[in-house]
Amino acid sequence: MFDEEHSAEVVAASFAGTPDPRLREVLTALVRHAHAFVKDVGLTGEEWAAGIKFLTATGQQCDDVRQEFILLSDVLGVSMLVETINNRAVGGSTESTVEGPFHQVASPARALGDTIDLVGDGEPCLVTGRVVDSALEPVPGAAVDVWQADAEGFYDVQRPGAVPSRNLRGLFTADAEGRFWFRSVVPRFYPIPTDGPVGALLGAAGRHPYRAAHIHIQVSAPGVRTLTTHLFVDGSPYLDSDAVFGVKDSLVRAFAAVDDPGRAERYGLPNPFREVDFQIVVRRDGGG
Ligand code: BEZ
Ligand code: FE
Repeated sequence: MFDEEHSAEVVAASFAGTPDPRLREVLTALVRHAHAFVKDVGLTGEEWAAGIKFLTATGQQCDDVRQEFILLSDVLGVSMLVETINNRAVGGSTESTVEGPFHQVASPARALGDTIDLVGDGEPCLVTGRVVDSALEPVPGAAVDVWQADAEGFYDVQRPGAVPSRNLRGLFTADAEGRFWFRSVVPRFYPIPTDGPVGALLGAAGRHPYRAAHIHIQVSAPGVRTLTTHLFVDGSPYLDSDAVFGVKDSLVRAFAAVDDPGRAERYGLPNPFREVDFQIVVRRDGGG
């Protein structure tokens, strides 16, 4: 019978006949943890109702492009935990981070060396890098998909009409040595969406909503595990308090100031400019 002492066992037992063993395991653990949580904090009826109201509002905030539940998972650190335990870096491979909600439009294919800055605002920047495997062998022809916020901290999809669609997005194909390079602007830190229940939660907790400045990079190629990661700007505010816990030290790079008119001209950049290099180590399927 259901009573306070045995509540978790009784409810877990009701799932004992779940045919799928993994679903049974997950449901049983969920019941165990949920009951322990209620007992741990001594949840009141009003608090339970407030929680239901919060989750209902979270669902109501979701549509085709807005996923407030993922945002909730992000600020609770659950997204990064799932990402981290399922993509443990081995053999020196590059660490992963969350994909985030702004990869909602396909990046346009661009040639190596192209600019992804369709506006011309912000500090010009040269991004170079190389995709290699754990043996440091190049991954020729790797697809390198990049997207980033602008110098004011906005993605193109947040400023429809004000900036060209696909601004600061590009899909590059690495050369025969796995190298890639493109022109851009230095991204700025920005707040995650705060106009919904998750923003209210952060406000109630006295937490800020900012993400440290970064460029999103997703690398894929036949025979390698797709890597979703960020390149963080060294010195950016919020590197030590990113709102979604996405920062990993190994992903932070200096965007160095360069004053070199010859090099600027070769790459089609104004002088001076900033430059960053990012070697990306991917894992071969079934190995390092
Ligand atoms: C992003 O980096 O684009 C992002 C990630 C998680 C939540 C909001 C934004
Ligand atoms: Fe982002």
